[in-house]
Amino acid sequence: MLIFNKKADLQNHLMPYIQANSPIGLVPTMGALHQGHLALMERSLAQNTITVVSIFVNPTQFNNPEDLEKYPRTLETDAEKIKTLSADIIIFAPGVDEMYHGNTVSQHYSFDGLENQMEGAHRPGHFDGVGTIVKKLFDIVQPTNAYFGEKDFQQLQIVRKLVEKNHIPINIVGCPITREPSGLAMSSRNERLSPDEKTGAAFIYKTLLEAQDKFKNESISTVKQYVTEAFAAHPEFKPDYFEIAREDSLEPATLKENTKYRAFVAVFLGNVRLIDNISLN
Ligand code: PAJ
Repeated sequence: MLIFNKKADLQNHLMPYIQANSPIGLVPTMGALHQGHLALMERSLAQNTITVVSIFVNPTQFNNPEDLEKYPRTLETDAEKIKTLSADIIIFAPGVDEMYHGNTVSQHYSFDGLENQMEGAHRPGHFDGVGTIVKKLFDIVQPTNAYFGEKDFQQLQIVRKLVEKNHIPINIVGCPITREPSGLAMSSRNERLSPDEKTGAAFIYKTLLEAQDKFKNESISTVKQYVTEAFAAHPEFKPDYFEIAREDSLEPATLKENTKYRAFVAVFLGNVRLIDNISLN
């Protein structure tokens, strides 16, 4: 299994694939891999001649220094997990200097307002950091297809906007959320929950399912009120936001129109911030 730390080495390895017009798949990650990440890789393996998985904890997308510091870094076990899937997957695991050349700052991006909603409003600078690193990875790997999870639906829409606005010829593939048997969306941050908290966290998805059910017959404000009260009855959760938004613009919805809607939630359980979302129609 090949692991590259340097851009130039990775690019040399990919050159014959680019010259032969063979499809290259890219799965960007920050490591601490779980089944959700592996599902993205399986998708890429099925659709491309070669798959590159990047593992890089990107400092510029963390608005909270403690979160960055505590983010798990587990390259060896990550490589083992990838190997169980396919020894042909290429890992790109650069250091911070290789990606930022001593200048660890983001470029500022406009994503036509997508960046001002939800995660963007609650995590200042986050999507500038995501845009900066994803653009760098796209430039280095020049993939045919790039794979992103609906777990971070707002990020997925922002990456779609990034390629659209910059005329980048990469096909962005959105992949469904992988969940624990309890319904809890898989996340590297779940590892920071106690066993009791992890069991209790299934309440988040249960509440989203109830919101999905109520959305069929109730108004948007009724659904929002129901969810607010459900979390209020479980004070171990500290909601950051609950929003019902259009899938395309991510603007908060008030009246139901003929378009796709999703419910989005971010909550603190102890000091761990969890996000999840669900399609409503
Ligand atoms: P990370 O949180 O490691 O996630 C990498 C990819 O895996 C993202 O596209 C994310 O949406 C997807 N993913 C995570 N958990 C998932 C789940 N339970 N089901 C389906 N997909 C899931 O997202 C990032 O890293 C970073 O922001 C990155 C894009 C790598 C830029 O630094």
